[in-house]
Amino acid sequence: MRIFPTAIAMAVALCGATAAFADEDIAARIGASREAIKSFAGALQEQLVSAMTAGGPTAAIEVCKIAAPDIAAEASDERGWHIGRTSLKLRNPANAPDAWELAVLRGFETRKAAGEDPAGIDHAEFVVRDGQRTFRYMKAIGTQPVCTMCHGTGITPEVAAALDALYPEDQARGFEVGDIRGAFSIAQPAP
Ligand code: HEC
Repeated sequence: MRIFPTAIAMAVALCGATAAFADEDIAARIGASREAIKSFAGALQEQLVSAMTAGGPTAAIEVCKIAAPDIAAEASDERGWHIGRTSLKLRNPANAPDAWELAVLRGFETRKAAGEDPAGIDHAEFVVRDGQRTFRYMKAIGTQPVCTMCHGTGITPEVAAALDALYPEDQARGFEVGDIRGAFSIAQPAP
């Protein structure tokens, strides 16, 4: 193929413009994603704490099962984005990562192993998804002491029985404080 100088000049001009646009756009989209995650995480935490206070961890499992997907769907509909949680070790198979999320989750583990604090680990990228330009963002979720009641190594027999009944394929146990439990994941259409 022969490449004409005008074509090269045009390509350079176009790519340059795209890069400048992307820099500004990506910062705004990261900011908006972090805000959305803050309110999503806040809503989840509120439900969890009130359910645990009312009926202990066994009752809270039932609430989590219903409330977590509902809160995610509400947060997604509100913004016209996809907002969810995923993990390398799943409790609910409906939260399974897609190929892009899987690669990012593995990258998070590598970064943590290299000494990064999970609280600051995130990743943003523009991708083409189903033929559409899409902004994707993931933020690691660290394991806190409260999480270990249902995701840790010392789960009580009552909690284990309740989890077994609802999630027969549960892999989300054995986490220790400071481990990456999973990640929030956002996809925004970015035409
Ligand atoms: C009362 C028990 C309970 C506690 C405490 C709890 N979780 Fe969960 N967690 C669940 C249940 C049940 C699900 C499955 C929800 C669903 O069906 O979508 C879940 C799912 C998740 C998921 C989605 C990925 C997956 O495996 O399906 C993440 C991420 C997660 N929990 C993180 C946390 C973190 C972080 C904490 C502490 C702040 C925490 N959990 C505390 C019960 C709990």
